[in-house]
Amino acid sequence: MRLLPAPSSQSLRLLFLFIFVMGVAPYPALTAGCPDRCVCDDQLVVQCAGQELTLFPNDLPLATRQLIISNNRIGELPALQLNYLSDLVYLDVSNNTLTEISESTFGNLRKLAYLDLSFNTLTQIEDRTFGPLSSLVMLRLTDNLGLNEIHPDAFSENIALQVLDVSRNNLTTLNISSLIALPSLRSLGLSGNPWMCDCETEDLCLWVQIEGFKFQVPVSVFVQVPYAVVTLANDGL
Ligand SMILES: *[C@@H]1O[C@H](CO)[C@@H](O)[C@H](O)[C@H]1NC(C)=O
Ligand SMILES: *[C@@H]1O[C@H](CO)[C@@H](O)[C@H](O)[C@H]1NC(C)=O
Ligand SMILES: *[C@@H]1O[C@H](CO)[C@@H](O)[C@H](O)[C@H]1NC(C)=O
Repeated sequence: MRLLPAPSSQSLRLLFLFIFVMGVAPYPALTAGCPDRCVCDDQLVVQCAGQELTLFPNDLPLATRQLIISNNRIGELPALQLNYLSDLVYLDVSNNTLTEISESTFGNLRKLAYLDLSFNTLTQIEDRTFGPLSSLVMLRLTDNLGLNEIHPDAFSENIALQVLDVSRNNLTTLNISSLIALPSLRSLGLSGNPWMCDCETEDLCLWVQIEGFKFQVPVSVFVQVPYAVVTLANDGL
């Protein structure tokens, strides 16, 4: 039988330092509990939908794998609290009042596969916003009525991305050069945006027509309307 070595005084000091730091750090509280107004199950699913929350829930179990905080009035995703949830696979923040997200928002969520940011009040998506999400498979980013700018390289690092939906925003252009390069992309939702089909975005329109076949949902419904505005519909609208 082997005996564990007695803890050195240095490791004891480190342990006390750890307890001290965790004890006074405001986030995250190391609890095995469940946030107020949420339901947590033993599959590590935390369900807080439709609870009139105005703040991101406190005291989330650190091992949370699915977090559903849709249908609330949460205005901000706090990077520090969110990124402690490094096992998060599924995050639904749809139908809230998010106004911005940034590079640090999703800084550590390397297992996240599903992200829903639909029905918020985002106005622009900056470069590298989704950069750390190397496992992201599906991104729903629809119905942000003022969203009129997506950086050309916003999705360029999301090599696992299969489904991207940017329908019903306020987009007039979308630089597709980095989208074309995504190896797994098979579905792209573009409908319900005021696309301007002029010279600058011609490649978008052309690409959607030509490549439409390779997507699960046909995206090639192509309606020419006056004033050179083109509507791209993918859902039979
Ligand atoms: C958004 O959430 C509110 C409050 O729960 C709900 O009444 C409304 O129907 C939801 N809207 C959508 C589009 O889901
Ligand atoms: C959509 O964008 C246009 C400018 O491109 C702006 O005038 C309009 O107010 C925007 N719509 C919303 C709902 O923000
Ligand atoms: C699209 O984005 C790429 C990469 O950022 C850039 O090199 C290219 O010039 C852009 N195209 C247009 C039409 O803006």
